[in-house]
Amino acid sequence: RLLHTAIERRAAFARLSEQDLAFFQSILGNSGVITDEDALVPFNRDWQKKYEGKSRVALRPRSTEQVSEVLRYCSSRRLAVVPQGGNTGLVGGSVPVFDEVVLSTAGMNKVLEFDEVSGTLVAQAGCVLAALDEHVAAKGFMMPLDLGAKGSCQIGGNVSTNAGGLRLVRYGSLHGSVLGLEVVLPEPLLPPPPSFASSASSASRGSSSGAATASGGGGGGGGGGAATAAAAAAADGRVLDLLRTLRKDNTGYDLKQLFIGAEGTLGVVTAVAIQCAPRPASVQLALLACPTFAACCATLRAARRMLGEVLSAVEFLDSACSDLATAYLDGVRNPLLPQDAAAAIAGLGEAGDTGPPPQQQQQQQQQGRSGPGQGQLGRAGAEGDGGGGGGLVGGGGVEDDRQFYMVVETHGSCAEHDTQKMERFLEHVMSEGCVTDGTLAASETQARAIWRLREGIAEALARRGAVYKYDVSLPTGVMYDLVGVLRQRLGAAGFGPEEGVQVVGYGHIGDGNLHLNISAPRYDEDLLRQIEPYVYEFVRQHNGSISAEHGIGLMKAGALPYSKGPVAIELMRRIKETVDPYGILNPYKVLPLR
Ligand code: FAD
Ligand code: MLT
Ligand code: ZN
Repeated sequence: RLLHTAIERRAAFARLSEQDLAFFQSILGNSGVITDEDALVPFNRDWQKKYEGKSRVALRPRSTEQVSEVLRYCSSRRLAVVPQGGNTGLVGGSVPVFDEVVLSTAGMNKVLEFDEVSGTLVAQAGCVLAALDEHVAAKGFMMPLDLGAKGSCQIGGNVSTNAGGLRLVRYGSLHGSVLGLEVVLPEPLLPPPPSFASSASSASRGSSSGAATASGGGGGGGGGGAATAAAAAAADGRVLDLLRTLRKDNTGYDLKQLFIGAEGTLGVVTAVAIQCAPRPASVQLALLACPTFAACCATLRAARRMLGEVLSAVEFLDSACSDLATAYLDGVRNPLLPQDAAAAIAGLGEAGDTGPPPQQQQQQQQQGRSGPGQGQLGRAGAEGDGGGGGGLVGGGGVEDDRQFYMVVETHGSCAEHDTQKMERFLEHVMSEGCVTDGTLAASETQARAIWRLREGIAEALARRGAVYKYDVSLPTGVMYDLVGVLRQRLGAAGFGPEEGVQVVGYGHIGDGNLHLNISAPRYDEDLLRQIEPYVYEFVRQHNGSISAEHGIGLMKAGALPYSKGPVAIELMRRIKETVDPYGILNPYKVLPLR
């Protein structure tokens, strides 16, 4: 809403008519065309409830052919279209700005193929990430990405945002693990093929007996996945079939890479082929307390050196994040804080309020730091107790005004070997004073509780009130400086803790990715002016990126020049114009207005 004021609806776009709706119904049936005002709310509003459009229709195709038919029609009518997956995006890219047609992939939720030898998965774009992970888990594999939104985000959305997540440090980015894509383009690049059947590889995959539904629940159900004869006949050469499962394929330009991270501006991803990893036989998870951010960096270096090939995640959060998660999320606590301090913190904030008064918060942090006493590194307490029992404290004082926590995980194949490595690593970082306290998960329940503390931060922030989210890449050593300088800057401008404004930092430290979040009681233009462009200038000065993993969307389209030069932006524009000459796909997003 804050940024919408500067954008005007493009006059060239048509407005939805009754005939348009009738056409969509003829292709998708009544259940595939959503026009009810209440039912449209979740399609129009983003996860943060920060961006909201006014679309009058959301379409739910079930097949590539239906997507193709919808795009053919929308292009001919100049109706703008927003592709939407799980709508968990954090940059306003997944919802309409004005009245664009929402094209949801939620109905395209079939697993098309899985090869148990190579671990390659082919699935429709609307499969929910957690459902896919469950599907491949049964065969001894795991998805190569994992993120807090896994219960809602879809693989097509993951690919379109080039989502990073919690294990990129080990399994790499989707630019590496995606093997193939099927994409429907807004305009045909060739005349229609004589028979659609020959080009619709996904239709034959989709209708094979092995197809299984991979929906996260909610959505899906009913309807056939295979193309109807009418839709097949209407397909007109706009389906770009790059759906290969080959590890090696050097046949000229790697076109699929263009669509990984294109945020729905170049085409609609309808199916994804992805390399899954073997599910690890042994998983170790540690939650560590570090006295300073420099100590976090030293711990990261040691983890890389000493855990080497088994290291699978290195995350960090500051104590403000830990306090937010324990205060705003039911049942979440920090096992490194003594029970009473954690309970006192958790008891204070009611979901949806603006949190405890700053003075009280400070007091809680002090309590939290007093720690449960000294000890040796140990496994956390009994199964299911969520930790706390085996925490250890080296007794190190806190030099900084903040405490930091790190989540360090290993994925390996031999528990004995991995445990030994983890223990040596922990002994080392403690003896160096980088880690003052820590706990190792002794059960899956405890591991889940630790992950919930880290993964729940986004949700806790959203519950506290308005959030200004920045997702930046920076040289790891200076990453947290941005939090410090912004705290000072905002405090000096009258947006400090007394005003309910909190600046917090967390993220994927192993990937040089900071999530800088400013939590405030409400959105405020004056506060925004203190934050932007300051944050973007800081990032540019340090040769960072204004988007490490969330994308550009609507939020950062105007800021793109902070991270991309004029030649690069011009090439992006030309690619966009070639593929989508009428600009109907996800307008106003990613590229800055001319
Ligand atoms: P949507 O939000 O629906 O769409 C995102 C963008 O992709 C939009 O521009 C949309 O137009 C486009 N799009 C969606 N589907 C298609 C398609 N089939 N074809 C073409 N374009 C499409 N992100 C990370 O990178 N790492 C994280 O760790 C992470 N954690 C998160 C935790 C929480 C709690 C939340 C709410 C979000 C998190 N995100 C994270 C952001 C978000 O989940 C990811 O960007 C995710 O990949 C979006 O997937 P989605 O299906 O929800 O896509
Ligand atoms: C995360 O790492 O938790 C996600 O990217 C969400 C967020 O940045 O809040
Ligand atoms: Zn993240």
